[in-house]
Amino acid sequence: MFDSWFTEPVKKINFKMTKVLSFISRKGGSGKTTNAIHLATSLSDAGYKVLLVETDTNYTLISSRKLELFKRKEKEDKYFPILASEDHRVAAEIEEIKASNTVDIIIVDSAGKTTDAGIRELCLVSDMVIITTSLTQNDLLVTYQTVKDLLPAKELNPDLKLCILPNRIHSHTRMKTVKEVLKNLEAEVIDTYVPQKKIYTSPSTIEAEKRYASIANQILKVLK
Ligand SMILES: Nc1ncnc2c1ncn2[C@@H]1O[C@H](COP(=O)(O)OP(=O)(O)O)[C@@H](O)[C@H]1O
Ligand SMILES: [Mg+2]
Repeated sequence: MFDSWFTEPVKKINFKMTKVLSFISRKGGSGKTTNAIHLATSLSDAGYKVLLVETDTNYTLISSRKLELFKRKEKEDKYFPILASEDHRVAAEIEEIKASNTVDIIIVDSAGKTTDAGIRELCLVSDMVIITTSLTQNDLLVTYQTVKDLLPAKELNPDLKLCILPNRIHSHTRMKTVKEVLKNLEAEVIDTYVPQKKIYTSPSTIEAEKRYASIANQILKVLK
């Protein structure tokens, strides 16, 4: 079913201003980090100037990048940067980077346990928030709660796009079923899903996974 998607290139859109896209969810393990890195490498591969910001203080992305660079015997300035930040300062840092207008897209991978103040401020500087979720009962409940928590941010930032990205979807599940399950959430469901596949686990922080391109394109469609 996905075979026809594999070959499509990631579209290049010219954004006049830096776009900020944040992966947020109350729950750990929903796929924020996996999708943040796949999106970052896919967009960078397509020629976007990407900055990936990691607020999870485990800093797994930064460690993976260091390891990859070490294995390749390469310097860090060759690839898009990954910045370490924290909940309480990420919004201010993003504002500063936005003002410099040197980056096309800032992707924020936030921690599962984000403070209310941290989430609120991050939503205020974001153009798009992506909540990743599987269709399990437990994930759906957390997603429902996350949307409820984030909805007030839309009053202060009316242009904010609050979106759901279905993740770890089994191959026999149809898009119609996915939409049906998620339709009662007060958020836009991105018109695609990330299948549960081994190719999406342990992503490279450098090399793009070509089979993520169609998902990146659907995300771009909402962001523009
Ligand atoms: N689409 C997917 N297919 C297969 N495994 C996935 C997928 N998305 C996430 N995973 C796996 O699920 C686990 C949690 O994902 P992760 O991105 O770290 O979640 P989070 O950042 O929200 O805590 C990881 O082991 C990851 O490899
Ligand atoms: Mg994570």
